[in-house]
Amino acid sequence: RGADAGQADLAGRHLVVSAGGTREPLDPVRFLGNLSTGRQGYALAAVAAARGARVTLVAANTDLPDPAGVDLVRVGTAAELREAVLAAAADADAVVMAAAVADFRPAHYKHVKIKKVEGESPAPVELVRNPDVLAEISQQRQAPGQVVVGFAAETDDVLANGRAKLARKGCDLLVVNEVGRGRAFGSADNEAVILSRDGSETAVPFGPKAALADLLWDLVAERLR
Ligand code: CTP
Ligand code: CA
Repeated sequence: RGADAGQADLAGRHLVVSAGGTREPLDPVRFLGNLSTGRQGYALAAVAAARGARVTLVAANTDLPDPAGVDLVRVGTAAELREAVLAAAADADAVVMAAAVADFRPAHYKHVKIKKVEGESPAPVELVRNPDVLAEISQQRQAPGQVVVGFAAETDDVLANGRAKLARKGCDLLVVNEVGRGRAFGSADNEAVILSRDGSETAVPFGPKAALADLLWDLVAERLR
């Protein structure tokens, strides 16, 4: 962040960040979920607030200390996350989708706990698609000049998959990480490549999630000017 270090260079901006992982309920005691802890999203929110922005953090099932000076909205499911992000995005300068949003949810929620029956095989769980929040926000920008950022965790062909995903979603920036090997989920550190719609690529060296956050906000700030 060089010359801007310590300055409120994001003052006057409203930035929306989603974090954590959605849970899609199956019955009153069970859900389909994922391993996201929300640490990268929380780091993004904390860094943006420290740089002077008004921040709305939409947090799905996180168990982390509330970042100082951030408006926190708690959600559970992908549908709740979508509502909260769309509402906050109405006047946002940028939206960063760091949350792991479930692609599918159980087609039928059972209002009573599913029981096993001796001698019977378990019923298959039918799934249906959830809406793609990032694609929706990217394709119908709610505020002029709004910058939209996605995250992608990939296990193979990381850059090729990332480029294709960026194009498919229609976002401005996509932060791509390779998962596994002590990276991404749950860890304090991250290593990534930030792909831009204009074709540029920014490597983020292995380091604290707050460092990735600073670099990402620099790229967002450039696009807001
Ligand atoms: N995302 C979203 N809504 C969904 C699924 C994903 O907004 N229903 C967002 C995530 O928050 C993330 C980005 O899309 O910023 C990429 O998520 P990812 O799971 O990598 O992409 P998918 O399009 O779901 O592709 P895949 O089939 O690889 O899971
Ligand atoms: Ca997905």
